[in-house]
Amino acid sequence: WLGYHSELPRANEFTKKTAPAWSKLILAEENHGVITTALTELSRGLERLYGVKPSVSHLSDAQENERDNLASAPAIRIGTWTGSDSVAGLFSETERSTVQGEGYIIRENETEGVLVIGSETPQGVLYGAFHLLRELTMDQGSAHKADDAVNKWSFITEQPTNALRMINQWDNVDGSIERGYAGESIFYDNGEFTLDLGRIRDYARLLASTGINAISINNVNVHRRESLFLTERYLSDVAKVAAEFRAYGIRLFLCANYASPMEIGGLRTADPLDAQVREWWNIQTAKVYAAIPDFGGYLIKADSENRPGPFTYNRDHADGANMLAEALRPFGGLVIWRCFVYNCKQDWRDRSTDRARAAYDHFTPLDGRFAENVILQIKNGPMDFQVREAVSPLFGAMENTNQVIEFQITQEYTGQQRHLCYLVPQWKEVLDFDTYAKGEGSEIKRIADGSLYKRPYSGFAAVSNIGADACWTGHPLAQANLYGYGRLAWNPELSAEEIADEWVRLTFGHEDEVVRRVTGMLLTSLDIYENYTAPLGVGWMVNPEHHYGPNVDGYEYSKWGTYHFADCHGIGVDRTVNSGTGYTSQYHPENADRYESVDTCPDELILFFHHVPYTHVLHSGKTVIQHIYDTHFEGVAQAEALAETWRQLEGKIDPVIFSKVASLQYNQAEHAKEWRDMINTYFYRKSGIADEQDRTIY
Ligand code: GCU
Repeated sequence: WLGYHSELPRANEFTKKTAPAWSKLILAEENHGVITTALTELSRGLERLYGVKPSVSHLSDAQENERDNLASAPAIRIGTWTGSDSVAGLFSETERSTVQGEGYIIRENETEGVLVIGSETPQGVLYGAFHLLRELTMDQGSAHKADDAVNKWSFITEQPTNALRMINQWDNVDGSIERGYAGESIFYDNGEFTLDLGRIRDYARLLASTGINAISINNVNVHRRESLFLTERYLSDVAKVAAEFRAYGIRLFLCANYASPMEIGGLRTADPLDAQVREWWNIQTAKVYAAIPDFGGYLIKADSENRPGPFTYNRDHADGANMLAEALRPFGGLVIWRCFVYNCKQDWRDRSTDRARAAYDHFTPLDGRFAENVILQIKNGPMDFQVREAVSPLFGAMENTNQVIEFQITQEYTGQQRHLCYLVPQWKEVLDFDTYAKGEGSEIKRIADGSLYKRPYSGFAAVSNIGADACWTGHPLAQANLYGYGRLAWNPELSAEEIADEWVRLTFGHEDEVVRRVTGMLLTSLDIYENYTAPLGVGWMVNPEHHYGPNVDGYEYSKWGTYHFADCHGIGVDRTVNSGTGYTSQYHPENADRYESVDTCPDELILFFHHVPYTHVLHSGKTVIQHIYDTHFEGVAQAEALAETWRQLEGKIDPVIFSKVASLQYNQAEHAKEWRDMINTYFYRKSGIADEQDRTIY
């Protein structure tokens, strides 16, 4: 999406844009790494768009007489209010105060041929630069003439809704990536940091262009070697990577191993209340800051899926997090503490333990006990990134605690970047969900952005989907998820349609048929995937461990707490207060009541909340069993149609990308049949109820 493809075919020649007067010179007057990046990006982008490389000047380097000339020349001027008098002077104080921090203003004075990008911070200037390039590329396809198009630059202000907009890499130092579907790590190779910083810099560009401002660079499951990232063994390497991201305004975080004081520090305990343990973290953290002064902090997975944590010492998660918070506080660092805590050694015979309850049960009693620089990171749903599950009831349940929402861009349960699954509509649905925590209008997006409870720290985190693949994401169209995540983190009000349209135009150009077909594919893909996989919110039904492909009972008799309880009478998990695990009570009454009753529970979540007979009639008018059959037949037909839609684009898309996607879509359609037949056959055999339409079920 940073191709700025002036060479791609346009809707019609009439729309070909002439270079605006300001596009030939870019001026800055402050020396700051991120401002320099903004200059480079503008210069590179404008050259691609208009075929002429603009001159770039630092006013501070210019001779006096040259300065006067530059001061009146048509140009793009960029800078911060405090670092660039020439930029600040072009705005009134009231105008400047319309944006804060990473927000920015873009304004054009057409008569003078000047376009200004100003912000309080260098990061804001960089985001403004990317905004300008994005809009110019989008304009190439607009129906307006050049003159109309530039008028829109009269005064643009943008402010990110979320302060923290983070990416989590699940990369291991051996070069593998946990749940990675796009090749090996771009960060590590065979136990060492990669020497190819170029790819990392390209990644920083990609991320910054969408508005991302933080990254953790190693897996949340921190093994022995990665525990050493905090030590001399690796710190200088970490610092080099941090420098690449710093140039793009992105702060680097590390995942730390909770048991580090023992595993690498030689202590006998990792008890958070032990003085020696606390001292160890203080000293180690000071070393990290000596190497990386703007280090972001630690991301922690503790007492989760066999990782160590404070429970070992009969301490709770506030004790654990606060210990690290104390070590980070002097440097302005943050502890991001994950809430993915549940019993992963459950006895499947035990019907009273409900994994969905776990995060809420563990964390709500701790509300108000976490230090100020601790943020809880909460997965969007209470289970684990299924194609459909309820939203986590922890949002809106901890008024006095900082929270960020965690999404999964990598498609662990949503087709592993072999199936097309554009996830933005799913994220939108979660963000728009009203928790009723403070009455109507308490949407999750207002908890994630900190506004509902006026929290000092908040935002978005998500597990990345990139790897060393040439196209970054395995499936070329899966790039739309990375792009969409960044855009949504910046502004959750953008629609899934707008984001898809933007990504497609930036990536493939503006030809109508391409835009129509590819956005259509993206926007229908999530529903299609849901249609042929696990039905009605029940989730799972995948092969254990690698999680690809259908296996209805794959997790049914396992320790992971992920069951569907299908028998010859019915299916689903009873999570009601009345007769089930009581999970519904974790929501505020408006939602709790809605989910508690089969009459009001939405169809798409019926099996997440209720155990019902196959003959239960949904609001759609269909029985559960007929719904299962219909959606699975339909899902396959839709997957085949996706492949066909793409095939029609031959000759209109870069041939390498075309054939890669064509083969992926073909395989998706084939694999969808495997899903359809296994699910339909399984439920036909369990229920003994025939398909009303008498289609083939084995
Ligand atoms: C899922 C995933 C694991 C990951 C875990 C987590 O369970 O399968 O690979 O480590 O989530 O989020 O910590």
